[in-house]
Amino acid sequence: VALQVSQLNERVRDLLGEASGRTEAALDQWLPAEDLAPTALHRAMRYSVMGGGKRLRPALVISACRAVGGRVDDAMPAACAVELIHAYSLIHDDLPSMDDDDYRRGKPSCHKAFGEATAILAGDALLTLAFELIAAHTRDATRARDLILELSRAAGHDGMVGGQMLDIEAEDNNREHTLEQVRAIHTRKTGALIRGAVRLGALAGGARPQPLEALSAFGENIGVAFQIADDVLDLTATQEALGKTAGKDAAQGKATYPAVLGIEHSRQMAAELIDEALESLTPLGPAATPLRDLARFMIEREQ
Ligand code: IPE
Ligand code: IPE
Ligand code: MG
Ligand code: MG
Ligand code: MG
Repeated sequence: VALQVSQLNERVRDLLGEASGRTEAALDQWLPAEDLAPTALHRAMRYSVMGGGKRLRPALVISACRAVGGRVDDAMPAACAVELIHAYSLIHDDLPSMDDDDYRRGKPSCHKAFGEATAILAGDALLTLAFELIAAHTRDATRARDLILELSRAAGHDGMVGGQMLDIEAEDNNREHTLEQVRAIHTRKTGALIRGAVRLGALAGGARPQPLEALSAFGENIGVAFQIADDVLDLTATQEALGKTAGKDAAQGKATYPAVLGIEHSRQMAAELIDEALESLTPLGPAATPLRDLARFMIEREQ
């Protein structure tokens, strides 16, 4: 078992390393320069996007594109766009009026470094730039439309933003949360963008309807499992390991899986979701091996 885990870790390290390298190179080119006015906005954007994070979502976009026989270059606008939406969601998630978090990706959160107004605007600008990138760098107009439609649905009221609203509404130390409620929150606030990442990669690679369906089911299950792991890590890991504040969910009365099920049962549920996700990939054969590795990593990660 130890050997298997270390082999998995090595392969995932390569996948994330590649995704990181390609995403950083593309984003460095596509993000506004820091010396361009308004410099505070552009510095805050780069501060929150560059040189941090696991780059799991870009790795999913790239791997899903490859799994359907697409070219990595065709996946890069979508890979960067998803990471920009993710980075914006983290900036806003950390704001005093949201989770009030001072620490992110191993450094002060955006509003701590640049002030609240600049952080809000940097988030807004990253969100907008995500759609600009896809529109500007996708040659085929129908494909660009499909990618933009997919990303807007994953990010908006029926996806990440809607989930963040449910998350805030559910915050309560004196109320019992239900499994149904937590599942609804996690499916949207985190699951939607992860499912979206997988689907965007597939669409960028020109996936046919059947593989796209299989990948959607895969994405949905790993997305929820990913947030369960995030909830468990909030309870079990240190700030140093996470690069963000630990132990905050319980203090804020967040609706989490461990709050409802306990840690062990939550881990078990996440593992079941990953098993289910892996089953959906059967029709894709060996081309989906990187996606399988990333799925296992979703719940075995320590940060
Ligand atoms: C953290 O996401 C926020 C959630 C949606 C749970 P990640 O764990 O992917 O954060 P980074 O990108 O590695 O910083
Ligand atoms: C974040 O969930 C989901 C987002 C859409 C940003 P959390 O609030 O649990 O994420 P962390 O733990 O602050 O990274
Ligand atoms: Mg939050
Ligand atoms: Mg948070
Ligand atoms: Mg969390």
